[in-house]
Amino acid sequence: MFRLDGKTALVTGGSKGIGLGLAQGLAEAGADLVLVARGQADLETAREKLAETGRRIEIATCDLLQTDEIDGFYQELIADIGSIDILINNAGMTVRAPAHELAMADLQKILALNVTSVFAMSQAFARERIAAGQPGKIVNIGSLMCSATRPGTSAYTTSKGGVLLMTKALATDWASHGILVNAIGPGYIETPLTKPLVDDPEFTGWVQERTPLARWGTPADLVGAAVFLASPAADFITGQIIYVDGGWLARF
Ligand SMILES: NC(=O)c1ccc[n+]([C@@H]2O[C@H](COP(=O)([O-])OP(=O)(O)OC[C@H]3O[C@@H](n4cnc5c(N)ncnc54)[C@H](OP(=O)(O)O)[C@@H]3O)[C@@H](O)[C@H]2O)c1
Repeated sequence: MFRLDGKTALVTGGSKGIGLGLAQGLAEAGADLVLVARGQADLETAREKLAETGRRIEIATCDLLQTDEIDGFYQELIADIGSIDILINNAGMTVRAPAHELAMADLQKILALNVTSVFAMSQAFARERIAAGQPGKIVNIGSLMCSATRPGTSAYTTSKGGVLLMTKALATDWASHGILVNAIGPGYIETPLTKPLVDDPEFTGWVQERTPLARWGTPADLVGAAVFLASPAADFITGQIIYVDGGWLARF
């Protein structure tokens, strides 16, 4: 019940970090893949790395900040490579600044990528699934900041709070079509996005002290939850978030 054989999974931001780790895990569970990001070279490197799984790996470039173009991109993509059964909305960004110093342009970019593009990709996916009379699984990558925050992350926290309630709203709207929508809330995970924090001994010390399991997580730590939510094992689960955070949120 945890296998994904015969399914195709699209992973946004699948060229690096968490997206690449999830793509690897989904392929090992049997899924064919479509990786979407902006950088062609990183996508090609990811495809080479994932070739060892023996699955079909397609790549497609798209700047998901161009939210008006997402529906057209998706239509062209599925006309070219066929339909998609599992959508992993992973691409995301952050800008760290005290709320009163945050540039409005940065807030708008964060909301465009972390919220609007997730909605638009989900909508394109659901429209095709509903028209085809087929079920589907969506897994949104949230964060600890779906339900908590820390200084300097107001825009990111605003966006990830939106992802959590969007997950519940889309799950509710599409349940009758067999489209199940869930989220994963990673804790502190070592990726290119968090490299400046990993390289800061003071911050890494704080992560180790603050996280009950006392370490940074890795993209591989998130695979179990993603495969589970995408698989038949989670066929009666929708509108939920699973935090994969080493116990961070459990502790005062
Ligand atoms: N790392 C953590 O500790 C952590 C914790 C909680 C949640 N998260 C969430 O996990 C997700 C992935 O984070 P990460 O740490 O793996 O990030 P990352 O290492 O920066 O990777 C981001 C991925 O998204 C792609 N991407 C970025 N902007 C894009 C755009 N405008 N259009 C299309 N693709 C874009 C990147 O490729 P290109 O640059 O080539 O486009 C890359 O493949 C994000 O939603 C993040 O908020 C991360």
